[in-house]
Amino acid sequence: MEDILFSPQQLGAYRLPHRIIMAPLTRSRSKQPGNIPWEMNVEYYRQRSSAALIITEATNISPQGMGYALTPGIYSPDQINGWKGITRGIHKKGSKVFMQLWHVGRISHSSLQPNGVLPVAPSAIRAEGKVFTNEGLQLFETPRALEIEEMTDIVDQYRQAAVNAKEAGFDGVEIHAANGYLLEQFLKDGTNKRTDNYGGSVENRCRLPLEVVAAVTEVWGSDKVGTRISPSGTFNSMSDSNIEETFTFFVEQLNPFNLAYLHVVESFRGSHTNVALNLKLRKIFNGAYMANGGYNAQTAAKSITNGYSDFVSFGIPFIANPDLPERIKAGAPLSEADPSTYYGGNEKGYIDYPFMSTKE
Ligand SMILES: Cc1cc2nc3c(=O)[nH]c(=O)nc-3n(C[C@H](O)[C@H](O)[C@H](O)COP(=O)(O)O)c2cc1C
Repeated sequence: MEDILFSPQQLGAYRLPHRIIMAPLTRSRSKQPGNIPWEMNVEYYRQRSSAALIITEATNISPQGMGYALTPGIYSPDQINGWKGITRGIHKKGSKVFMQLWHVGRISHSSLQPNGVLPVAPSAIRAEGKVFTNEGLQLFETPRALEIEEMTDIVDQYRQAAVNAKEAGFDGVEIHAANGYLLEQFLKDGTNKRTDNYGGSVENRCRLPLEVVAAVTEVWGSDKVGTRISPSGTFNSMSDSNIEETFTFFVEQLNPFNLAYLHVVESFRGSHTNVALNLKLRKIFNGAYMANGGYNAQTAAKSITNGYSDFVSFGIPFIANPDLPERIKAGAPLSEADPSTYYGGNEKGYIDYPFMSTKE
C-alpha cells in the first residue's frame, strides 16, 4: 500500500524520485550576528536529503520581514554564502531544495525591526499572544498599516530574495502565504480591513499575493515556484469570514502562472482540516497538489492513492527521523521529536537524531 509513496512524479520542472517531501521547519539556529546559515545548518539539511525535495525553513526576505530571533535571512551577502553551503550539501546527495520566502508582517516586534520601528501589516490589528524576541517572550504590538505606496517595495523585497536564492544555488522557491504571516494577513479578511485596492473584495485581498507570485515567477520561471496556503488555519490569530470563496478565487488566479505546486497546510496547531475544500482546491489547481498536516505513511499513501494529492510533506516526523523515507520503506518505527528543542539552542535535538542503522 505504501509503495505508491515511492513512485516518481513530476513537480514543475523536476521529476522527483518519490513523494515524500520535507516540510518547511523553522529551527532558529542561524549564526549570530547577522542571522547567517552556517555549518550546523549544513549538516542538518545534509542529513535529511533523502527527501524527494527539501523545503527550507521560512527565510526572511528582508530585515523588515523578520519576526523571530535567530531565523535566517536571504538579503545579505553573508547569508547568500551561508546558503550556498546548504544547497551544495543537498545537491551532493542528489536531492533538490526550494527556499521558503518569508515576510512575517505583524508577527514581529519593534525590538526585531530595523531602527526599532513597528512591524507592518495590511491593517493596524494586533495578534493575540507573544513573540519570541532577543529579550525573551513579549506581547505582540499593534502593527502599522502599510501605505499603498509601500506595496511595490514589498513586492521588490520578494523579487530580490528570489534573485538571491538563485545565486545561493536553490532549485526553486516556495512563497509562504500560510500560517498567519504577511501574505495570508492580506488574503484573510480578519486581518485585512483596508479600503483601498488591497483590501475589501476578495479580488483586492488577493492582489498583493498575486503581485508577489508574478514577480517571483519572473525571476525563476513558473515551473520552479510553489505557493503555500493554509485555508483553514487559525494560527497567529487568523480568521476569514468565507474561506471557500477566498481560497477558491486565489487558487483560480494562480492557475495562469502554471506554478509547480500548491502546498496546502490542511491542519496545524489545532486547526481542523476541511476535506471538502481541500479537494475542491486540488481539483481547481492546474499543478501538483502537496498535502501537509498530521500525515503518516499510511494516510499519505491513502491520500495519493485516492487522488487527493500528488505529494505529501512531513514536518515533525523529519525533525526526529533524518532518514524518514528509508524508515517508511522499511516499515521501521519512527523516533519521537522533542518539542523543547524545536527552536533555538545547539546540536541537541537538531543534528543528533539517530539514523535507522545506528538505532538498535
Ligand atoms: C518546529 C516547527 C517549525 C515550523 N516552521 C515552519 C516554517 O518555517 N514554515 C512553514 O510554512 N511551516 C512551518 N511549520 C509547519 C510545518 O511545516 C507543518 O505544516 C506542520 O508541522 C504540520 O505538518 P506535520 O504534521 O507533518 O508536522 C513548522 C512546524 C513546526 C513543528
